[in-house]
Amino acid sequence: MGNCRTSPEIGGMGHSIKRKEDLRFIQGKGNYVDDVQLPDMVYGHIVRSPYAHARLKGINTAEALKLPGVLAVITGEDLAKANLAWMPTLFFDKQMVLATGKVLFQSQEVAFVVAEDPYIAADAAELVEVDYEELPVLVDPHKALDPGAPLLREDREQKDNHIFHWEIGDRAATDKVFDDAEVKARVHAFFPRCHPAPLETCGCVADFNPATERLTIYLTSQAPHAHRTLFAIVGGIPEQNIRVISPDIGGGFGNKVPIYPGYVCAVVASLTLKRPVKWIETRSENLQSTGFARDYHMTAELAASKEGKIKAMRVKTLADHGAFNAAAQPTKFPAGLFSICTGAYDYPTAFCEVDGVYTNKAPGGIAYRCSFRVTEAAFLIERVVDVLALELKMDPVELRRKNFIAPDKFPYASPLGWSYDSGNYDAAMQVALDTIGYDSLRKEQAEKRARGELMGIGVSSFVEVVGAGPSHTFDIAGIKMFDSAEIRVHPTGKAICRMGTKSQGQGHETTYAQIVAEELGIPAADVTVEEGDTDTAPYGLGTYASRSTPVSGAATAMAARKIREKAKKIAAHLLECSEEDLEWEPGKFSVKGAPGKSKSIQDIAFAAYTNMPQGMEPGLEAVDYYDPPNLTFPFGTYICVVDIDKGTGEIKVRRFVAVDDCGNIINPMIVEGQIHGGLTEGLAIAFMQEISYDESGNVQGGTFMDYLIPTSMETPHWETGKTCTPSPHHPFGAKGVGESPNVGSPAAFVNAVVDALSHLGVKHIDMPIAPWKVWNILKEKGVVN
Ligand code: CDP
Repeated sequence: MGNCRTSPEIGGMGHSIKRKEDLRFIQGKGNYVDDVQLPDMVYGHIVRSPYAHARLKGINTAEALKLPGVLAVITGEDLAKANLAWMPTLFFDKQMVLATGKVLFQSQEVAFVVAEDPYIAADAAELVEVDYEELPVLVDPHKALDPGAPLLREDREQKDNHIFHWEIGDRAATDKVFDDAEVKARVHAFFPRCHPAPLETCGCVADFNPATERLTIYLTSQAPHAHRTLFAIVGGIPEQNIRVISPDIGGGFGNKVPIYPGYVCAVVASLTLKRPVKWIETRSENLQSTGFARDYHMTAELAASKEGKIKAMRVKTLADHGAFNAAAQPTKFPAGLFSICTGAYDYPTAFCEVDGVYTNKAPGGIAYRCSFRVTEAAFLIERVVDVLALELKMDPVELRRKNFIAPDKFPYASPLGWSYDSGNYDAAMQVALDTIGYDSLRKEQAEKRARGELMGIGVSSFVEVVGAGPSHTFDIAGIKMFDSAEIRVHPTGKAICRMGTKSQGQGHETTYAQIVAEELGIPAADVTVEEGDTDTAPYGLGTYASRSTPVSGAATAMAARKIREKAKKIAAHLLECSEEDLEWEPGKFSVKGAPGKSKSIQDIAFAAYTNMPQGMEPGLEAVDYYDPPNLTFPFGTYICVVDIDKGTGEIKVRRFVAVDDCGNIINPMIVEGQIHGGLTEGLAIAFMQEISYDESGNVQGGTFMDYLIPTSMETPHWETGKTCTPSPHHPFGAKGVGESPNVGSPAAFVNAVVDALSHLGVKHIDMPIAPWKVWNILKEKGVVN
């Protein structure tokens, strides 16, 4: 945003004010679930399966129960008696809470030990004897569809491993364009299974109080209200008797959207023992059993003219969902918002199909810093456009610019059904090109190539789709996707703002206060923002998929505007004039033509409790449940420059320029921080991370020894820039931004590496691009011995 409308003292939109919450975080004074200590609290530990597929012949808990301090060992059979052995997933499947009959993935939950201290619980878990009979394992989703493949889910009516087929677009019309096409490009790209690996793992403290019959659950939850409703429905507990409190959360990225068996076991144990029960995942449990993302095997094709005009896109994908379909997707979207895969380009025809498959892996499909499969989609289109550029022998920037949706075509109806709200893709591209000095980099590359050196430039011009609802199309587990804000202005003009969302580190306590400051002129420092307590916050669907600003941010502005309407009536009363005679500037109403005659928002707030007009309801507060008319479509162009060491295959990211457009910005410093963080995660996905499985279904990458987290040593200097194309339908023109860097960057990294090797005939390399992969290619191509 250009000029700020408010003074730095008020700190409305566009001010880079420091994050309020950081004061407690940097002093170690945050309050996370594992910090919760309650009198009489006991601890749970999960017994997990070492096998990926095995029949459960028996569980002997006797030795474990003998260990002093052990209070209970809960098994699937125990839960079955209470009809709780299975729970619904977020996507209309059911998942075992604790295994009965058989186990379907390594690390699956088999029993829950409760003890007086966490170490006794862990020791006792090792004393639980489980008799397994190994079964054949399926880790390859392609093989899982073979007619003779072992049936994984015996509980289902459908007797194969196929979960769903979903398609969108015009197949016949698309095939026809391909039949007639002058040029075609094709890429098979696997987006590997990865994990958000948040700083804080998942956990909860379930506290059932038999005296009040209330159940308080301290939960690492990105969606506390939805979780309360699901606990009420599944557990048969009256909803008013459940209070979910999400305290500080150390990173979520989608990992903390599903309900996990550990939560359910802790609740059951607390209801049974009538004591608070704490369950906190270890790092390995987090990586091995909760919250996987991606695992999409994708084939994309583009049809184009010889001049490089794209005519159509065709996509076929196999989605590996693991043992249960626990994907966090809106109901109508089995493959999430993957159909945004047509990208930033203008062509009328496309067809996309996705098949979901069960395998012997942990249930996956969370939206890791991603609006439900947008990352996979953006990666795919930005990869296949580069492959088309190679086919056409055209510069990838030129090809993109030739095909961008023109700014005057918005709202743009995409061939797969989206209505993009606004965009100016060429403008973002231009800023990125100018910042990085594209033309001279290409010259340098040509010179280096002539000398046998390897340098690559990767471009990604992604389009995002964030801010779910609207409610007519979007719901999760039947609950409509809107969101909320409630603002109360106190008599002294200070305020509290309570939200349906839940920050996991995004700085909501600062930015929502800035929205209130912008709309009401109350200094952001005077506004307390509270999230995560279902007893006090208005109902909302929570924070994931960059929906906080587009939806709850909008609700905050709308609630503030309701308050301003009432404030105007009070100002007119105080100034003894009609409302029409008043004009507003942030923080006060003045009489038109007499700027000296004014009342500040603080004067008005006091009057709302002490001197309101006759007949007016006292107080100054409002709540808004915002159902967005559309999603918002942020975008950007990222350019990455890499140098590759021929001797080792090592890739050095020399420069990375990220130009983002998220419409009007609330806090530029926070947005920049979001982009730095997301780019670092994108770097890790592109080069370092994968959760894979060996043939027996053993998790590879289940610890930080194998699943690598980038440190400052691996992380390059990020250069950021921006353009501003406001959303026309959002109350203050903002779009979401948090996930953009994770969505847009993997393609830029991969495109850069492929560009460095393209003269050798390389068109694609699957992530993670580790040095050994590059070195093998160089060896295969005869570049090194
Ligand atoms: O839902 P989530 O908070 O993860 O994503 P978001 O709405 O994209 O917001 C991430 C952070 O960036 C929040 O603190 C927002 O307030 C801030 N933001 C901003 O300052 N301006 C925007 N146009 C978008 C987000």
